[in-house]
Amino acid sequence: MIAAIPEFPALETLSPETAATELAWLAGEMARHDSLYYAEAEPEISDADYDALKARNAAVEARFPELVREDSPSRKIGAPVSTQFAEVRHGVPMLSLDNAFDDGDVQDFVARIRRFLNLPADESVAFVAEPKIDGLSASLLYVDGVLKVGATRGDGRTGEDVTENLKTLGESQIPLRLHGSGWPARVEVRGEVYAPNDDFAAFNAAAEAEGRRTYANPRNFAAGSLRQKDPRITAGRPLRFFAYAWGEPVEGFSDTQHGALEKLAEWGFSTNPRSERVEDAEGLIEVYRGLETDRAGLGYDIDGVVYKVDRLDWQQRLGFIARSPRWAIAHKFPAQQATTVLEGIDIQVGRTGSLTPVARLAPVTVGGVVVRNATLHNEDEIARKDVRIGDTVVLQRAGDVIPQIVSVVGDKRPADALPYVFPTYCPVCGSEAVRPEGEVRRRCTGGLICNAQLVERLKHFVSRRAFDIEGLGEKQLIAFHERGWIHEPADIFRLARDAEKLDALRAEDGYGETSVRNLIAGIDARRTIALERLIFGLGIRDIGDQTSLLLAREFGSWTAFHAAGLDAAQGIPSTDWTRLAEAHAVSPRVLATLAAANVAEADPWPEAPLDQKIALAFPGLAAPARRALADLAPDWPGLRRLAEIARNEGPSETLGRIAGIAGVGPVAARAVAEFFHEDHNKTVVEALVAELEAIIDAERPQADSPVSGKTVVFTGSLERFTRDEAKARAESLGAKVSGSVSKKTDYVVAGPGAGSKLADAQKHGVAVLTEDEWLALIAG
Ligand code: IVH
Repeated sequence: MIAAIPEFPALETLSPETAATELAWLAGEMARHDSLYYAEAEPEISDADYDALKARNAAVEARFPELVREDSPSRKIGAPVSTQFAEVRHGVPMLSLDNAFDDGDVQDFVARIRRFLNLPADESVAFVAEPKIDGLSASLLYVDGVLKVGATRGDGRTGEDVTENLKTLGESQIPLRLHGSGWPARVEVRGEVYAPNDDFAAFNAAAEAEGRRTYANPRNFAAGSLRQKDPRITAGRPLRFFAYAWGEPVEGFSDTQHGALEKLAEWGFSTNPRSERVEDAEGLIEVYRGLETDRAGLGYDIDGVVYKVDRLDWQQRLGFIARSPRWAIAHKFPAQQATTVLEGIDIQVGRTGSLTPVARLAPVTVGGVVVRNATLHNEDEIARKDVRIGDTVVLQRAGDVIPQIVSVVGDKRPADALPYVFPTYCPVCGSEAVRPEGEVRRRCTGGLICNAQLVERLKHFVSRRAFDIEGLGEKQLIAFHERGWIHEPADIFRLARDAEKLDALRAEDGYGETSVRNLIAGIDARRTIALERLIFGLGIRDIGDQTSLLLAREFGSWTAFHAAGLDAAQGIPSTDWTRLAEAHAVSPRVLATLAAANVAEADPWPEAPLDQKIALAFPGLAAPARRALADLAPDWPGLRRLAEIARNEGPSETLGRIAGIAGVGPVAARAVAEFFHEDHNKTVVEALVAELEAIIDAERPQADSPVSGKTVVFTGSLERFTRDEAKARAESLGAKVSGSVSKKTDYVVAGPGAGSKLADAQKHGVAVLTEDEWLALIAG
């Protein structure tokens, strides 16, 4: 399902505080999308939406430069390095490219270059225009002509060692030994790994038929295939490689970009046949138009055209700005659009009962992919766009995920098309579908009597980040459910012991003894499960895998978490409380202040401005909290109500504890309370746990280590451990790891190359430790 991105307030209306909150949110949200995209190869949002988030971050930062965060998305390039592969430090960083979106941007790019090189008006600039392949970049180190190391881009500086996987692409794509002669003794060849569209489609079709996982688009498929632990799996995937760049500038290699491409081809690489040498902005734009026209017929996805200054000595002189070269730019294609007729609107019911409208379309090809469905998000979205059945709609596929409906073609609307009425009952079980105040989605109230919810919950239960049962994919699960064998998670474990059912399976076509044995083994293997997987597998609304991990760490054991859930269920807070607690800066302390205040019915200070009223009525509140309250309550009666909510609905201590876990918050806390409030959930959970053999406790942060409760900042390039390791270790010892230094920081651990944070530490008088000193400290 596509997660829409929010509408942002106009930039002019932002205060430094709201801007800071927004930047923090953007940093977190974009990091999450990065990880979905790079680590999971399962993006939730389209590239266009991702770009919109990035643009918003840049715009807010441009307005408030002093608020640029250490972890700002504008400071990062590409994917964080996963821990599955060994790390490879790139000799020369693998940078990204600046973008051009229209002809004007291209003209500016050329003009900038002319100015920088100080060229006379009559001297033209030659470029090479190359298709921008929509895959993932890789770097191949050849020493004396022999392939030594192949790596992904990673975060630009450090990538992953996927040598063995890259070798499986075959001699025609990645030669193990360079052809010809005259290559430098040491050279890093760079280019793009991609999958042709047809091969991708064939893979997905076969995977779907066999109930294996499918990929959203060729790029995710290529990324997922290259980052397999077992190179034999990569070997079976149809990956290809175009070479277009190199690492260290090599003397005598070539004088020009086009000459270098020719060399790469002589050495045995594929270079893109559509790369062209042209002059000036006009030449570039001509290539762009040509590729835009031919794009759908190339056989692989491209998302734009890369322009590179041809002369390498000029490239050298032009150099880099921040994280991209001054001598190159990516001219992006707009999202691909098409129009078609909306034949119907299906309502899908999700795991937690939420109703999602899906547009059923007359099949249409958008950018080489046949589209039959598009998401409509929710009922407000349908109303906002006034989408009606029978309408002709404009569709958009931004080279990725699920296509979106952009707009309705007004003058093609059939005369009898009626506004769409969103159902108020569940289309699967017929139960009432309600829409709680403040929520965008309507939800089926049928719970587990609703077949749709049941199946979705079961699918979630066996999914990769939950129980991940080998041999039990979605297809088998649905088949077993349809036979009436599996209704709840515990049934899966019962099946593995049910001789009669297993015999029935053995007797079936296509289900031999081996498959049955594998199925039993797969299920039994999961009778021992990590606590966070168990929590995630329960499918509690708003509890994703990250939140599950935080809960597992906080409570440590299933017994403690289970007891907390049951206790939280004693007092489900109102939406008002949740909103109040969720509002920026409304901390438990603020809630306590509110509850303690005596707010008379009549406003004692009718003339005072709101902020002053708040200061007078609730003494001791800091400015951010006062502002948050002003946002929630515009007047005296509103403040009175907030105080009342805080007083009467102060939810249970346990609920407060869950809501207080950093990264969890009141919405998720409420979802836990609601989940354990339902009797059938309690029964399902108990039955499941009875089938398990062991639940592996999460590692709890130590409360009595030398650094518990301390705030630590790591900076510079650490040499004894990776950033992730350092963070995990510090957290397990009960320390809080922060990205920026303030006067509340206890220690700054600085490796070589530490910069501004070190200066901040000195400014605030914070203790600075070397890595060794830190290790000595935690060793106690
Ligand atoms: S040149 C320093 N050429 O686009 C410049 N990149 O946003 C290095 N890409 O990471 C990149 N086709 O994954 C270059 N013909 C091409 C490309 C290309 C695709 C990708 C590459 C890079 C990203 C930059």
